Amino acid sequence: MKIGVFDSGLGGLMIAHSLIRDLPEHNYLYLGDSARVPYGNRSLDSVYEFTEQSLRHLLDNDCQLVIVACNTASAKALRRIQQELVPQHYPDRRVLGVLVPAAEETVSKTKNKRVGVLATKGTVSSGAFESEIKKLDPSIEVFQQAAPLLVPLIENNGVRWVGPILDEYLRPLVESSIDTLILGSTHYPYLKQQIKERVGEIELISQDEFIPAKLKAYLDKHQEVEAKLSKDSASEFQLTDVTDDTRQLAAELFGRELELKRVVLS
Ligand code: DGL
Repeated sequence: MKIGVFDSGLGGLMIAHSLIRDLPEHNYLYLGDSARVPYGNRSLDSVYEFTEQSLRHLLDNDCQLVIVACNTASAKALRRIQQELVPQHYPDRRVLGVLVPAAEETVSKTKNKRVGVLATKGTVSSGAFESEIKKLDPSIEVFQQAAPLLVPLIENNGVRWVGPILDEYLRPLVESSIDTLILGSTHYPYLKQQIKERVGEIELISQDEFIPAKLKAYLDKHQEVEAKLSKDSASEFQLTDVTDDTRQLAAELFGRELELKRVVLS
């Protein structure tokens, strides 16, 4: 069986890339809901509905385990998916998110206990990062900044205009004297260099850098899940819409050209 990787769009390809690089023996199925990205500005009901539909697709297509790489879906839909969809319809499968691993990583890195979160509007308003961090260490102060313009710019080949917008989003976080900043959206690792230039010594928490190790630790601990995974080093990439622009951006985010298949979710 496969490992599924779900994102609202193409940003999750950076996580898929690091998973395939660090755990290459597994079989992966990537699904990006590129027809409906971004999820970041959508209602709770829409994010849940789209996420549920996407996860059903992955679970119906032989995924034993799905990583919800999308922070917005992890923040707004994952808990209900884990409490309702999985136990009712796929009791032997597992669905994991990216917020808890990011919170763990952050708590282990911060020294002054002042932490920033840069994320979509939906993730920020859910307060999910803050509550996961505070579960681990209630004394940490969390400063959040919604960045609604970044994903549309990346998805529409507009990275050259990102500078002044990043300045605007990052200034309040830097002024809050944080020492650690969570890049809380699948797409932001693509801007890592531009962000680094603006935040100086602040440590960046970038999910593509630690999700493979977290997954490895999970599989070591859950041998019953690991035992069901196929090991043919095969990967498939599916999107709900494919255009010339998506092909180009997918190649840029993943680091090479991909064979992208358009799928219709039912
Ligand atoms: N994948 C989303 C996330 O990580 C960003 C794109 C979107 O808004 O859908 O939050």
